[in-house]
Amino acid sequence: MRHWVIILSLIMVFILIGCQQKAKIREVKSPNQNITVQFKMDQGSPYYKILYKDRQIIDWAELGLKFKNSPPLKNNLKVISTQTKKVNTKWAPVWGQKDTIINNYQQYTINLQEPHDSTRQISMIFRVYNKGIGFRYQIPKRYNFKNVKITSEETEFNLTNIDTCWWIPANYDSYEMLYRSTPLTEIDSVNTPITMRRKDGLYLSLHEADLTNYAGMTLIKDQESTTFHSDLVPWPDGTTKVKAKLPLKTPWRTIQIGENPGDLIESDLIVNLNDPNKIEDTDWIKPMKYVGIWWEMHINKSTWGQGPQHGATTKNAKNYIDFANNYLDSDNQNIGLLVEGWNIGWNGNWMKNGDIFDFTKPYSDYNLEVVVDYCQQQNVDYIMHNETSGDIINYENQMSDAYDYYQKLGIHGIKSGYVADTGIYNPAGQHHHGQYMVNHYQEAVQRAADHQIMINTHEPIKPTGVYRTYPNWMTREGVRGMEYNAWADPPNPPEHTTILPFTRILAGPVDYTPGIFDMILDGPNTNDQIYTTRAKQLAYYVVLYSPMQMIADLPQNYKDEPGLKFIKNVPSNWDDTEVITSSIGDQIVMARQSGQDWFLGGITDEHPRKINIPLDFLPQGNYIAKIYTDSISTGVYENPTAIEIDKYKLRNTQNIDAALSTSGGIAIHFSPLNKDWKDCDLKSIQTFNEKVDKKYNQFQNYKIYKHNQN
Ligand code: NOJ
Ligand code: CA
Repeated sequence: MRHWVIILSLIMVFILIGCQQKAKIREVKSPNQNITVQFKMDQGSPYYKILYKDRQIIDWAELGLKFKNSPPLKNNLKVISTQTKKVNTKWAPVWGQKDTIINNYQQYTINLQEPHDSTRQISMIFRVYNKGIGFRYQIPKRYNFKNVKITSEETEFNLTNIDTCWWIPANYDSYEMLYRSTPLTEIDSVNTPITMRRKDGLYLSLHEADLTNYAGMTLIKDQESTTFHSDLVPWPDGTTKVKAKLPLKTPWRTIQIGENPGDLIESDLIVNLNDPNKIEDTDWIKPMKYVGIWWEMHINKSTWGQGPQHGATTKNAKNYIDFANNYLDSDNQNIGLLVEGWNIGWNGNWMKNGDIFDFTKPYSDYNLEVVVDYCQQQNVDYIMHNETSGDIINYENQMSDAYDYYQKLGIHGIKSGYVADTGIYNPAGQHHHGQYMVNHYQEAVQRAADHQIMINTHEPIKPTGVYRTYPNWMTREGVRGMEYNAWADPPNPPEHTTILPFTRILAGPVDYTPGIFDMILDGPNTNDQIYTTRAKQLAYYVVLYSPMQMIADLPQNYKDEPGLKFIKNVPSNWDDTEVITSSIGDQIVMARQSGQDWFLGGITDEHPRKINIPLDFLPQGNYIAKIYTDSISTGVYENPTAIEIDKYKLRNTQNIDAALSTSGGIAIHFSPLNKDWKDCDLKSIQTFNEKVDKKYNQFQNYKIYKHNQN
């Protein structure tokens, strides 16, 4: 009997110890103490929880990895050690939305191991910033555990108190979709970034950082709960997600937290979670604006393939270069020229021509070397175009010769394309967002860097901040861009670009291709019109960030047109960025600094709006403000190209009262006024502000765009 009592007592003690172990909660806080990450083990699995000022953001959510060739790293783990580290540094990006980035976080590493096998280890690393969190898995190299095939990353995001989500559905090959704005319950799956407003007014965005040698992450929503599960894009076998050699670091899983939507835009979380720049000499990396033989094909005025309407002719290219040189040349701006349809492979259905594209052979009516030479004489940077139509093998086979040739010609930029509607064409079964393609995009960028070439990827993998490490990866598409306004049904509705800064562009720069001045399209088989005003197109240069920013319309639609001066003057690289006011899907006003000048862009969705813009973002002083905005007669249907342009004097202590028309905008160039404000004979900003009610009342008579959900 005594025997049994002792045994029972011992069992109780073990259970108690077990419970205590299970209940142990570890925690780490952001430098300003606002964010808390908690960590616990439950039945051998790691769990995390996130709080913001004591409000629960993520409830206990499980972590772990599953493999093809070995048991999962979950269910059987225990904590063997932990480490903390504080980092507070600054770095200067080669280009960006600001000239200095603060990298201030508290790191917490939890090393886990299976109880009886020291080769079975995994670490969780959390970096807690003031406005967000990143965490990743790290598996060390061990003698009998060298290669892994991941079949599932078991990361969960257990969301609480969500009101509205802005999202696109998960897709392994494309991000070219319109964003939806719905409650969490209406979601099945998403591509990241997904952005959410909580019922208490906080904003969140989920994404990933440093997606390198791994598969892209989509999220699947649990239908019974408010939890998202990571779903990695597979290899062609459908079950292998990642093939890796150990040691392995996964990408960071990121959660941005903002008190208002602008906080998300101003955050540097994603780019901070990437490795520092690996390119030593960066003199050749130049932010720029570029024109291109491009829109004319999308609106069916010319063709990519040869024939009487061929767009890429030597003569036409010279016309664009002359336009760039005569109308856009300004002291401190770089201008590029893109020419699509220049090389063998476009004739016939080019989307199926992946195997015949030749990346060094121009068509007979296009003399590449003459055009490049003409560019160099006029100080225009030539941007090569490489459309692969999803034949990666054909492209990789030619990459070395092609990049050598481009470098020999003095070309420093490539726009690449991966059009392939049903997934990558060769190797068949690969997806744009799977590990194979993540590695291909990366390889192209690294090889381009060796040849001093910048890259603008279309049909890309989403940005995850890798441009910190390879700053020659300037920009990319991965968006339902301007081209959809030429030929897609439905076109991009007015609210689309009021959502992008809070979703897609949180991940990184976007080649949306703004600047269409001729809103009425008359090419055969094109849409009737573009549903924005001209002032909104100008504001895009501030709102839709890209260090390679297109001036997308045809030269003849710009020459001597009001508003071109703003495009000529607006930079594509910034010293600072501020969101002045915003409401996702409704309106956004942003200001960006370049030297002593500031540029402001404000846009609205289909509704006219009155927006008060405080100017306290400007350093103290007097300014000339050149304002480009909707005139009283501007309406997206009534007169989309009408624009009011005037100069005013103002001080940083004043406000601007703007009235934006239906799908309208405002763009402002502020320069310091270097004399006494009172002596200046410019109009005072008061004369602009006085018109606000009259304009707004008139705008309310104009027809509102109704989106056809097709
Ligand atoms: C799709 C790209 O997004 C577009 O910019 C390009 O013109 C076509 N592919 C042809 O390469
Ligand atoms: Ca709206």
